[in-house]
Amino acid sequence: MRSIAFINQKGGVGKTTSTANVGACLATLGKKVLLIDLDPQANLSIHLGINVHGKDLSVYQMICGKRKVAEVLTETAVDGLEIIPSDIDLASAEIELVNTVGRETIVKFYLEELSSEYDYILIDCPPSLGLLTLNALTVANEIFIPLQTEFFALQGVSKLVQTFEIIKKRLNSSLEITGIIPCMYDSRTKLGQAVLDKINEYFEDKVFATNIRKNIKLSESPSHGMPIITYAPDSNGAKDYLALTKEVIAQEKMMLSETTTKQTSEIKEHAMQ
Ligand SMILES: Nc1ncnc2c1ncn2[C@@H]1O[C@H](COP(=O)(O)OP(=O)(O)OP(=O)(O)O)[C@@H](O)[C@H]1O
Ligand SMILES: [Mg+2]
Repeated sequence: MRSIAFINQKGGVGKTTSTANVGACLATLGKKVLLIDLDPQANLSIHLGINVHGKDLSVYQMICGKRKVAEVLTETAVDGLEIIPSDIDLASAEIELVNTVGRETIVKFYLEELSSEYDYILIDCPPSLGLLTLNALTVANEIFIPLQTEFFALQGVSKLVQTFEIIKKRLNSSLEITGIIPCMYDSRTKLGQAVLDKINEYFEDKVFATNIRKNIKLSESPSHGMPIITYAPDSNGAKDYLALTKEVIAQEKMMLSETTTKQTSEIKEHAMQ
């Protein structure tokens, strides 16, 4: 199972759009997917047509121990795609958890009660590096960073990478940055290409080959409560997210061969001792 946190403390860069649409595309391609909405704005839940406001059925109630994970787990209209939704109550969690022991691992703790098996867990984070994002980084073993291909794209990225390094050292040694998603790309502008070049220079082979182009259908689909492949399957937005998702799946093979190489060399080392 792969668990991936979509993070960037910068707001409006495409975290939620990417989590929802990669999740929906993975499910359409036959994977079993769990989405976790860790943003009190609940944009991911609403994007998928789930509104639990006032029902006490969000990730917040799970974090407080008032609901079991099975109670907050919600099916979406896409086959194979489930979600643990959020609502505005989650906004108080950061303050309420301040004095809780193990506050960075509380979501991970409750997820252990999950009985279903998933191929992928995707976590949508709020635009901050606060406690909710730290929780996502202890559940996940991978980070995807959506970046808007605009002038300020790389501003703050070093802080993000620094946070990742601290979490990896202190809380989650298996965490890796495994994908950079260039979002809202406009090929008609020189700026778009220039920013993309800078992103490639900084993150090298971690950048996905697929750029998510600016596409009006992508901005319309959340208000219809549907992922792009359901709302506008022929749009550029759907084509881009499907291409990106195929790249994500292709990473599985590379990871498997890396693990096999590592295991083989460990066995050889052991045999020589
Ligand atoms: N490729 C795209 N083309 C056009 N609009 C897009 C595209 N990607 C995202 N948007 C729109 O841009 C806005 C911000 O996107 P999104 O909500 O995914 O960002 P975010 O990083 O999750 O924001 P926040 O930090 O507030 O959680 C949304 O209105 C979304 O519909
Ligand atoms: Mg968001």
